[in-house]
Parts: sequence; C-alpha cells; structure tokens
Amino acid sequence: MNNVASLPTAAEIDRDLHTEVAAIQTEKRLSQTAMAKEIGISPTAMSQWINGNYPADPTGLEQSIARWVDAHRERQLQAQALPAAPSWVSTPSAERVIAALGYAQVAGDIAIVYGGAGLGKTTGIMAYQRNSPNVWHATMTPATATVVPALEEVADAIGLREVGGGAAKVQRAIIRRIQGTQGLLVIDEAQHLGVAALDAMRALHDATGIGLALVGNEAVYARMTGGNRAAYLDRLFSRIGKRVRLIRPTQADVAALIDGWGIQPRACRQLLQDIAAKPGGLRGLTKVLRLASMFAIGADRDVSCDDIRAAWRDLGGE
Ligand SMILES: Nc1ncnc2c1ncn2[C@@H]1O[C@H](COP(=O)(O)OP(=O)(O)O)[C@@H](O)[C@H]1O
Ligand SMILES: [Mg+2]
Repeated sequence: MNNVASLPTAAEIDRDLHTEVAAIQTEKRLSQTAMAKEIGISPTAMSQWINGNYPADPTGLEQSIARWVDAHRERQLQAQALPAAPSWVSTPSAERVIAALGYAQVAGDIAIVYGGAGLGKTTGIMAYQRNSPNVWHATMTPATATVVPALEEVADAIGLREVGGGAAKVQRAIIRRIQGTQGLLVIDEAQHLGVAALDAMRALHDATGIGLALVGNEAVYARMTGGNRAAYLDRLFSRIGKRVRLIRPTQADVAALIDGWGIQPRACRQLLQDIAAKPGGLRGLTKVLRLASMFAIGADRDVSCDDIRAAWRDLGGE
C-alpha cells in the first residue's frame, strides 16, 4: 500500500546523510558508539549503516539519524544567535575570591570563601587558576560527601588517573604529587563534604603545607561553627587564616558585568540590580543580558530597558 505521507520529500532524497553525519562526527569528535548513543540506536546498527552494510530496510534508522542531524544543526544555529557572555569580568566579588586564594597559596594557609549562588566564586577560581601555577580545582557533589570519593575527586583534579585502593593509598598518592609545589588546592562546592571528608582535606594541607581553599555556600561555614559540630572540625576551624563571606552581588559587581557586556542601560540599573539580587545572582543576570542582547541584535539596535524587561519576563522573572 502506498501511503503518500510516508514518501520521502525531495529534500530527503537529495540529502546525503552519510556526509552530514561524518561532518558532525568530526566537528564533535564523537566515537561511533557515542554517536549511536546520542541518536538512540545500537552501536552495531550505527557501524553497519556507516559502512553501507546495514542488513535491513534502513528507512526507520535513517529517520532517527536525520532527526539527530537536524536537531544538532538547530542547536548550532541557536548557539550562534546567542551573543557570547564575556567569560571574565573583574568584579569586586570575584576579586575578593581571588585575593583569598592568593593569600592561601602564598602563605600556605587555609582560606574559606562562602556565600550564595551566582556571586562569581567559581568564575574567580578559574580566573585565578589561569594566572597561577599549581592551582588545582576540585568540585564536590553529593556523590563525594565521604572520604574516599572526595579524595578521588581531588586526585582527579591534580591529574592522578586511576588511583584506587582505599583512602590511605589515594591520600598518599595525592600527598606525593602536591608536596613541595607551593600549590593551592581549591575545593569548590565544599558544602557537599561531610565532616570526615572536610577533615581529610585539612589533613592534606597539614601533611604538605600547600594552600587550601574551601569554597561553598553558607553551609560550609555553618558546619564548622555550628553548636553540634564534630570536635575534630576544631582542628580545621582553628587553622583558617582567611574568611571571605559574600552575601549578594554588589552594585559594583552588577555595574562591572553590564560594562563587560558593553551595554549602558543607565535607566534600568535598579532593575538589573533587582535581577542580580534574586537567588541566581550574577548567573541570572547573565542569562537576562544574553537574551536581551539577542532581542536587540535581532532588531539591529542597542539594548534597551524594554529588552531587559522582556528578557526577564521570558526567563520567568516578574
Ligand atoms: N567575574 C565574572 N565575570 C564574568 N561572568 C561572571 C562573573 N561572576 C559571575 N559571572 C556570571 O555568573 C555566573 C555564576 O557565577 P559563578 O562564578 O559560577 O558563581 P558561584 O560559583 O558563586 O555560584 C557565571 O557563570 C557567569 O555567567
Ligand atoms: Mg560555584
């Protein structure tokens, strides 16, 4: 039975899927297996289709592949339309983070930087890392709350591959690598560490004398100062040489970020400040500025307050 709707369109007939797929594979540096996974077909079918010996009717398979190719191109177009955010702007909050990291590294001391999300903590760490040797940035998650996974995360950050065999062994390997480097170990999202894992970080510092920076939200600090803290956290607490608390993005942070985008909507500074004061902080502000810039570029004019308001609404703000 010939169903008209299922006949391939002219575009589909003309299309050289093999060439398109090969191009994307090269662009994205995907293995055949990874590509098959993204498309949602079996690696065997993928390889047979690429080599031209798929044993069955390829119509269904090619529909899946074409859908993936189209979605990939669509995403690429969208990414091109979105103006790139300035990757680094010297904001006062990020500079405070950088100063704390610099102190910890130079003095071989412990610094703690804590506060809300989206204030430039991680951005500051990355900027510092670009400019200083031997800075290792390990990011914790709920999966790394205990000693062994936390140490493994650190091992990974310092470039030790495949160390295993228990806490003592991983710890020894880390110490061997970082000793005498005058380096700095930065533990980002440190609030995910349980007390024993926090103490394990302290032990790395004690054994090597390298700088240690614990960066995270308010819970990091609360854990060390709370009434029911584990007694051995006193050892860590008493060693903290520098504390930096960031509460919310400052007006100067917001002004610096807006300048970084090269936009000057003086009239809506208060609106931008309000947006940055929301829980997403500068992250939320960056999203709004990106979308607002897109609106303005689309209309071929400078960013206006209306663009910012529209972007804020579009992203679910008030
Ligand atoms: N100094 C900065 N320069 C450029 N962008 C920044 C800066 N600070 C914050 N941002 C923007 O805000 C987002 C959140 O910042 P981030 O450093 O990840 O915050 P935190 O680690 O404090 O949660 C970043 O992804 C970036 O878009
Ligand atoms: Mg962060």
